[in-house]
Amino acid sequence: MFGVVQLGVLAACIVLFLPMGMAGWHLSRNKMLFFSGALFITLAVFVHLTPYFPALIATLSYSSSSSSDVLVSPLFVHKNESCIYLLHEIEYHVDELSSGSFGKSWNWVESSGRGVSECGFQKLDRMDVSDLLNGSWVVVAGDSQARLMVVSLLELVLGVNEMETVKGELFKRHSDYKTMVDEIGMKLDFIWAPYIGNLTDMMREFKEEKSYPDVLVMGAGLWDMLHVTNVSDYLLHLKLLKNLVMHMIPVSSKVENDVEVVSEPVPRQPPHLFWLGMPTLVHSMLNTEEKREKMTNLMLDSYIRGLYSSKLVRQTGGPLLLLDVHSLSRKCGIHCTLDGMHYDGVVYDTIVHIMLNALLIESHQKL
Ligand SMILES: *[C@@H]1O[C@H](CO)[C@@H](O)[C@H](O)[C@H]1NC(C)=O
Ligand SMILES: *[C@@H]1O[C@H](CO)[C@@H](O)[C@H](O)[C@H]1NC(C)=O
Ligand SMILES: *[C@@H]1O[C@H](CO)[C@@H](O)[C@H](O)[C@H]1NC(C)=O
Ligand SMILES: *[C@@H]1O[C@H](CO)[C@@H](O)[C@H](O)[C@H]1NC(C)=O
Repeated sequence: MFGVVQLGVLAACIVLFLPMGMAGWHLSRNKMLFFSGALFITLAVFVHLTPYFPALIATLSYSSSSSSDVLVSPLFVHKNESCIYLLHEIEYHVDELSSGSFGKSWNWVESSGRGVSECGFQKLDRMDVSDLLNGSWVVVAGDSQARLMVVSLLELVLGVNEMETVKGELFKRHSDYKTMVDEIGMKLDFIWAPYIGNLTDMMREFKEEKSYPDVLVMGAGLWDMLHVTNVSDYLLHLKLLKNLVMHMIPVSSKVENDVEVVSEPVPRQPPHLFWLGMPTLVHSMLNTEEKREKMTNLMLDSYIRGLYSSKLVRQTGGPLLLLDVHSLSRKCGIHCTLDGMHYDGVVYDTIVHIMLNALLIESHQKL
């Protein structure tokens, strides 16, 4: 392989000696200067474009193959892990109906060039979820956002009607809800953990019992914002949480090595880990004076910055894939919320499907 230096020297030689050689034959000095300059520019352009050639070639071959339908036919054609970062390319359609209410739907953005169509994202149905999660233990832990996500997941696998009977149990205020969904062979636990401190406690329990779920979704922050009101405390717990999470990941699949892990690695498949982000807050719609005072967008920003600086989420090099409720709820907009904090089912449906597609990519499953 040619190094950059060798290439540079070669280029310099060509620029210098080729015109000189030609001048030696029968070029005037002006012509020689002209050729020198032209050569120099050509080489410079060439050198600068070289790094882009693979991408250029990939683009060309993609656009030529996309006219045939090869890419579209298999049910799941997840190319590779880079698809995970395109999962949030979502758009919502919120249309005012003649009744005055709003019809809401969502989809992955079609037009965003490479990615979404290549990655073959799919809204999964109950059978797909059954294939994907049969035999799995799924834990969703957090505040009401997490509870609403569980509602969306259960509606998907049970159907809306059967879900009605479950809702009573699930919505008992401030309590856990554990169930075995026989229809798809999935054990599902919702753990009421409104404060970040509850999540670290939960992780400690998992560690003590040496028993970890296959899929773990967690998220907290709103209660800390409203009742603890101490960002440094939140950040401290996020870092603690990250350390506890690193314990449950086998050494070989560690995302980062800068965390000290003292205990022996857990000899099992790494669990699939997600962080359920905080929603966009519509300040004017918050329903108490206390909330309007303490839950400003400035405050929310500092909690979100805390999340990024803790490097807990994969988007910043951490172990958990962020399910970005903040960006999704903002996209859905003010017609998707009644209290500026809890959003309509359509937002949590999106999150469930993003999670399921991420699981598909991670487990390299093709249904
Ligand atoms: C994944 O695909 C993208 C293009 O779609 C490519 O740039 C990237 O290198 C691929 N990564 C792997 C690990 O194959
Ligand atoms: C789940 O898997 C088990 C064993 O692999 C199978 O017997 C069962 O029928 C499956 N259940 C569903 C609902 O697919
Ligand atoms: C969560 O943490 C708070 C504050 O530390 C505590 O008062 C509460 O009992 C905890 N809740 C659960 C369900 O563990
Ligand atoms: C905020 O939390 C940090 C870390 O837990 C603590 O040291 C500090 O005293 C707290 N500040 C207030 C005002 O309570």
